[in-house]
Amino acid sequence: MKLKLCTWQEVDTYLQESDGIIIPIGSHEQHGPTGLIGTDAICPEVVAHGAGSREGIMVGPTLGIGMAQHHLGFAGSITLRPRTLAAVIHDVVQSLDRHGFRHIYFLNGHGGNITTVNSAFQELYADFSLHGGYGAEAGFHLKLGNWFTGKRVTRLSDELYGDRNGSHGTAAEISLTYYAYPEAVKNAELEPRKAPDGSFRDAADFRRRFPDGRMGSDPSDCCPEHGERLFEAAVADLIEDYQQFLKS
Ligand code: NI
Repeated sequence: MKLKLCTWQEVDTYLQESDGIIIPIGSHEQHGPTGLIGTDAICPEVVAHGAGSREGIMVGPTLGIGMAQHHLGFAGSITLRPRTLAAVIHDVVQSLDRHGFRHIYFLNGHGGNITTVNSAFQELYADFSLHGGYGAEAGFHLKLGNWFTGKRVTRLSDELYGDRNGSHGTAAEISLTYYAYPEAVKNAELEPRKAPDGSFRDAADFRRRFPDGRMGSDPSDCCPEHGERLFEAAVADLIEDYQQFLKS
């Protein structure tokens, strides 16, 4: 179920059966010469919608802009500051909690969001610990899951790409976007074929170290067929993890 396609009465009815929701969260940032700018938002969105339609899980709007300051050296990348992203998470959780959503699962597509989102969760819990009074407990349960670290996806990524998957502009995420949007498959020269790996600080430093935008990846054999297999693996991982989360 997609929240954006429901009426408020349908949401009320859903809440009588379940208090869970999945919110895809991603980023709009460069993904190298063959990766789409929207990769990190597209991947969790299609996986969440896959799980949502198969299991009747409510899926909220995709938070499509994340913390990507280090990609601003490349055209088209957009970032929120960490504190802006944390404020967005805070307000989204409080809005959903007001309606009775108690299990709020953020399905993430971007490693750069992880620290900030977990920090935002701690701010929300701190409100109760500091101001809730003795014995007060937050009604909501929050979880951040990454579509790309589930056990089935990890096994399949290893099988398909091994150490050529990389850590940014990964072969797995690019294949998944090609499955979702076959009309957007890209072809470009990759030199070197496997990108360098390492750490970085700001946007200029990132561009100097990783000139075409990729980190550690070789996406030269990405294709929709690989993407379809990754999609099925990711949907199965998500359904399992979400059902487990609902029991918490
Ligand atoms: Ni990515």
